[in-house]
Amino acid sequence: MGELVVGIDVGTTKICTLVGEVRAEDIYVVGVGVEPARGMKKGVVNDVPALTTAISASVHKAERSSGYEINLAFVSVAGAHIVMASSTSLQNLEKCVEGAGVHVDRFILNPLASGDVVLTDAERDMGVMVVDIGGGTTDLAIFIDGTVWHTAVISVGGWHVTNDIALGLHLPFEIAEAVKVEYGHADPHSMDPTEMFIVQPFGEEQMSRVKRADLSQIIYDRVEELFQLILKEAKYSAYDGLLSAGIVLTGGSAQLPGIRQVASDVLKMPVRVAQPEKLSGMADQLRHPSYSTSVGLLRLGLVMDQEDERRGRTHNNHRTNGGGSKGPRSRPPGSTNWGKLLGGVLKRLLPEDDE
Ligand SMILES: Nc1ncnc2c1ncn2[C@@H]1O[C@H](COP(=O)(O)OP(=O)(O)OP(=O)(O)O)[C@@H](O)[C@H]1O
Ligand SMILES: [Mg+2]
Repeated sequence: MGELVVGIDVGTTKICTLVGEVRAEDIYVVGVGVEPARGMKKGVVNDVPALTTAISASVHKAERSSGYEINLAFVSVAGAHIVMASSTSLQNLEKCVEGAGVHVDRFILNPLASGDVVLTDAERDMGVMVVDIGGGTTDLAIFIDGTVWHTAVISVGGWHVTNDIALGLHLPFEIAEAVKVEYGHADPHSMDPTEMFIVQPFGEEQMSRVKRADLSQIIYDRVEELFQLILKEAKYSAYDGLLSAGIVLTGGSAQLPGIRQVASDVLKMPVRVAQPEKLSGMADQLRHPSYSTSVGLLRLGLVMDQEDERRGRTHNNHRTNGGGSKGPRSRPPGSTNWGKLLGGVLKRLLPEDDE
């Protein structure tokens, strides 16, 4: 039986636990547990008990789905946590995962995990920015010459788009979310100005007719602003002139029709939308931009563990049942090796490698 790897993507919209079996250099996804997120706001933990419960539920689903017991995992972390790495925020995230009965093998920055599955080697060499547009946050990372040079997080995501729709069209948030997914389009210029759809606004018994172009304008305004912020970040990084391969969009909100056009108009670079490809196992469910981070956690986490192993460090198998010893996983809560946190990728940005 192959080695086991587990990834937990703690997002602001959903928590996704994936279980993968490593077979001949390939990872077969054998378990999936998706649970709506609670206790996260703007990419940071704001309610430890609620988040712990949600992570537990996601882990249990993945355990039932895979038949394995999980007690060690790679965990995604938004850039916002890194900014506050010394504060309680990241420790809170660790507390929640540990509270769900799972030790953190390593934290991996969200956009690095996403980048691992959606970028080609050629893009990474030429210079590219991966932009993961989720629910509460947009995480980005710039790769040049095959390595990461810059990461950032912007506190705008699909949640803000839905909220604008709710306010603009006087709809409950849940209805606004459904309207966005059903009729949403980020590019009003490509809309038929006569096309209408029907919704029931707050406090009205009658259904009302809304122009799809008006919905699109609301979405455009927010999405255009987001890409302006991304452009600003690219300029701030000073690598904006080196992104020959342009931008790769992923994350749930990258599914908005027309978003590619808005991105290329603002950023004036080639843009494509990407999702995890070349998946083995339970692939159909995961071949979707929302799952780039989750899939990337398994792959990047495994590669990082293998690198550590080559350097002679202990290597943990994520499996417990039938495996006997719990030795390598008995690291007590709170004792995460912070040197492992950035997985070596951002170490050059830190004062020194304390491993
Ligand atoms: N078909 C769709 N069209 C437009 N938006 C969509 C679609 N499907 C999902 N979304 C949006 O994607 C967002 C969730 O994306 P994702 O699953 O990547 O979030 P997350 O990883 O939980 O959040 P974050 O990365 O910000 O912590 C939600 O705002 C949702 O409205
Ligand atoms: Mg995400």
